[in-house]
Amino acid sequence: MIGYLYPLRTYLIVAGTIEKPNPMTADWVVPLSFNPPLLGVAVGKRRYTKKLIEEQKDFVVSVPTIELLRDVWIAGTVSGARENKAEKMNVTFTPSEKVTAPSIKECQANLECRVVNEVETGDHVFFVGEIVNVTHGDAFEDEKPAVSDFKFIMHAFSGPNFIWQGDEIIKP
Ligand SMILES: Cc1cc2nc3c(=O)[nH]c(=O)nc-3n(C[C@H](O)[C@H](O)[C@H](O)COP(=O)(O)O)c2cc1C
Repeated sequence: MIGYLYPLRTYLIVAGTIEKPNPMTADWVVPLSFNPPLLGVAVGKRRYTKKLIEEQKDFVVSVPTIELLRDVWIAGTVSGARENKAEKMNVTFTPSEKVTAPSIKECQANLECRVVNEVETGDHVFFVGEIVNVTHGDAFEDEKPAVSDFKFIMHAFSGPNFIWQGDEIIKP
């Protein structure tokens, strides 16, 4: 029934360390509060990422554009419990400023989050993260995305089916 909520934007959740980063693709990312700045991410109970976030109590939400689609697919189909997927991906991990989890250089924004709450929601765990630092690329100015120049990834529906957001601004 969750399929009725699609299309949804697609992100990368980075956990682990700069020595051993573990990126995981996630559609289930939601803003929760402006002040304090909070967001939530639902992570499946069997994901290696869940174990890592529970241990280190932080993560990074990285914002990919369509050029990174192949890497997004790898991060979303390979588990870090079995393979070092960072090595399979063609991205550069860089140290974050305020959290242990690294950022991804090629992503247009990296939101560094500290876990402030964790709620069991059925077969997922919902991590509430306080955004403690953000770094960003040219796709953003004053928190506004340049939608005419950059193609942000959306997951159209289950499986390898993606679209981008379109670039026409429509006023109500
Ligand atoms: C487009 C896409 C979106 C996904 N969204 C989520 C999500 O929101 N939450 C989640 O737990 N898994 C999601 N997944 C599945 C995980 O990314 C996948 O199981 C991954 O291999 C888990 O990696 P890990 O075991 O290293 O944590 C998604 C996969 C894809 C391809």
